[in-house]
Amino acid sequence: MAHTLLLVDDEENILKALTRLFRRQGYEILTALGGSPALELLATRPVSLILSDQRMPAMSGAEFLTAARKIQPDAVRMMLTGYSDIRTAIEAINEGHVTRFLVKPWQDDTLLETVAQALADLDLRRDHVVLQEKVRRHNDELVALNESLEKKVLERTAEVRDALKREEEVNETLRQQNGSIVKAFAGLLDLRSPAIGAHCRRVAGLVIPLSARLGIRDRRAVQDVVIAGLLHDIGKIAFPDAMIIKDPSHLGHQERGELRKHPVLGQSQLQVIDSLGEVGRMIRHHHENWDGSGYPDGLSSSDIPLGARILRVLDAYDHVSKGRPTRGGEDSLLLATLDGQVSHNFDGTVFSALLGILEARGDAYNPAREMKVPLDRLEVGMVLARDLRTESGVLLVGKDETLKPAYIDKIRNLKEIYTLEPHAYVCRV
Ligand SMILES: [Fe+2]
Ligand SMILES: [Fe+2]
Repeated sequence: MAHTLLLVDDEENILKALTRLFRRQGYEILTALGGSPALELLATRPVSLILSDQRMPAMSGAEFLTAARKIQPDAVRMMLTGYSDIRTAIEAINEGHVTRFLVKPWQDDTLLETVAQALADLDLRRDHVVLQEKVRRHNDELVALNESLEKKVLERTAEVRDALKREEEVNETLRQQNGSIVKAFAGLLDLRSPAIGAHCRRVAGLVIPLSARLGIRDRRAVQDVVIAGLLHDIGKIAFPDAMIIKDPSHLGHQERGELRKHPVLGQSQLQVIDSLGEVGRMIRHHHENWDGSGYPDGLSSSDIPLGARILRVLDAYDHVSKGRPTRGGEDSLLLATLDGQVSHNFDGTVFSALLGILEARGDAYNPAREMKVPLDRLEVGMVLARDLRTESGVLLVGKDETLKPAYIDKIRNLKEIYTLEPHAYVCRV
């Protein structure tokens, strides 16, 4: 947009000459024959530059420009003056009312150039102001954006946290519900047959150390195998006492055939609970053999779920050890019996992991290091060579503990409640 110039002089000829000169440059020109009409114009029209004569009758150029500054502080103010008024012009510049002064008579080129330069500076200043305003606005927007972003992030974080919390609560409830269901089933099994209940608890008790040896890190998966261990023979509750109490080797052909249905029955008993689907699958397959000779589906090797392969080994181990720690020649023989089954019945990796656990626990009886002491002959000061546990695996006194009177009382009292081995293993002194 073209700049508007306000020319002020009491001589009309000068105004006409200046108008001609500047109009050729494409400027918009306003003129006034004195300070007062010029101020009136300024009150209504925005201008870029004011060029005023100094010597005017009613109001001097300096006075006019001082007043003009108050109306349009942004406009460039220039003074045209004769040599005699130079001092006044300098004072006006020093006081900040005038930015430039030019001497009459002027050189057209010099005047045009000076005005053009001043207007270019004005454009720069205005651009700078616009730019500053833009930057300020952008900054404000940025601050607002950041604030809203922060707010959104906080809101989203809170949402995610709430969602996680809700999910955790649901999981916890499910866990508790599953825990209650599993406890109820295990209790049912105990009521039906304490021996089967204890067998299942021992199997489940070995799942965690065995899974750790096998490098299974998924807690949920391990938890499922523990539950499957606790309930793996739940299908047996459907059979008459005679069948489940008898040693399987004493069962007739038909009874044995019936008993072989317990993995499928067990799975179908758990089918009603969606979250125990994987547990049910492990239970179904806990009598599958590595070579495919097992039941119910004749699965082989890695087609058998890993949890079921774990149960297969632990189940067999518990049947030969009857929950007693392996010791001496007797159990070496039992383990050898199992060892002979490895290529047919067990996943060799799982079986090796079990042997690793037994070795690490030092289950083999070592008469040079320990001695068997009947529970009612335990004395204060004796040091236990092994954990003293109930048949179902509850720890009463830990290995390496020195017996105190309170421990001995505790063992005697618990002996009345729990099934315990008749002996404890005590370190030789
Ligand atoms: Fe079984
Ligand atoms: Fe079993």
